[in-house]
Amino acid sequence: MTTTARQDTVWQVTGLADTYLDGVRGAIPLAAEQIDILVRLCRAARPQARALLDLGCGDGILGHALLDAYSGNDMTAVFADFSPRMLDAAQLRLSGYAAHFVQVDYAYSNWVDNVCHALPGAAPGFDIIVSGFSIHHQPDTRKRIIYEEIYNILTPGGIFLNLEHVASASDWGEEQFETYFIDSLYRYHKERGKTRDEVAADFYHRPDKVANLLTSVEKQLGWLREVGYTNVDCFLKIFELALFGGLKPAEG
Ligand SMILES: C[S@@+](CC[C@H](N)C(=O)[O-])C[C@H]1O[C@@H](n2cnc3c(N)ncnc32)[C@H](O)[C@@H]1O
Repeated sequence: MTTTARQDTVWQVTGLADTYLDGVRGAIPLAAEQIDILVRLCRAARPQARALLDLGCGDGILGHALLDAYSGNDMTAVFADFSPRMLDAAQLRLSGYAAHFVQVDYAYSNWVDNVCHALPGAAPGFDIIVSGFSIHHQPDTRKRIIYEEIYNILTPGGIFLNLEHVASASDWGEEQFETYFIDSLYRYHKERGKTRDEVAADFYHRPDKVANLLTSVEKQLGWLREVGYTNVDCFLKIFELALFGGLKPAEG
């Protein structure tokens, strides 16, 4: 893959990071429920988790919820992203937590060594790896390899959850999702004086849209099973927003 072909680097521009953090993250429909279920699944799979990775962390919203849920566990958390602006926002949000911040680009396999180096010496890997609305910027071949790379750095019994933007099954389904999402953005923005048409125009012309390489949840569940994950499932789906993942088998 050549760097010139990549569109996802729009995320390294401060403006897009700010637009997302100020104007989109808070408008994601059912965000609280998504995070609640993500936390429940992690606690069920790894009640004694000691190490967590939030990959493509943005301002660290997912890892933050997990650090709070595991507050008695003395858990180490690694927050990884390739955007300096996002990592600054994560550092600000997580000051006071046992958190490490690593700039990695998971388009390249060296991201694995870089996040593992952030773990304390004796840690065998991560008990929990989560990712939010991020990996869909990679082409399918790379997505599947990333799922394998994640598997390789999970501890036995560890869990991977991807809260992700996935492809609709049809153009009709995509239209329904877009209308639903714009309504949600409008509810969030109308107090700031924007009309629904303005919100819709911003949505359709957003700079990261070209970077979306959406893939169906079914296809991605298949990859996870092929890699070796167990209990693979889509645990929640609202149109194109899906929470899916699986566990690494515990050692026999
Ligand atoms: C839509 S934001 C989501 C942030 C956060 N996970 C959340 O749930 O709100 C996508 C994040 O993925 C990061 N990202 C995109 N491509 C990446 C890559 N190749 N390597 C590392 N981070 C990446 C972006 O910088 C951005 O912070």
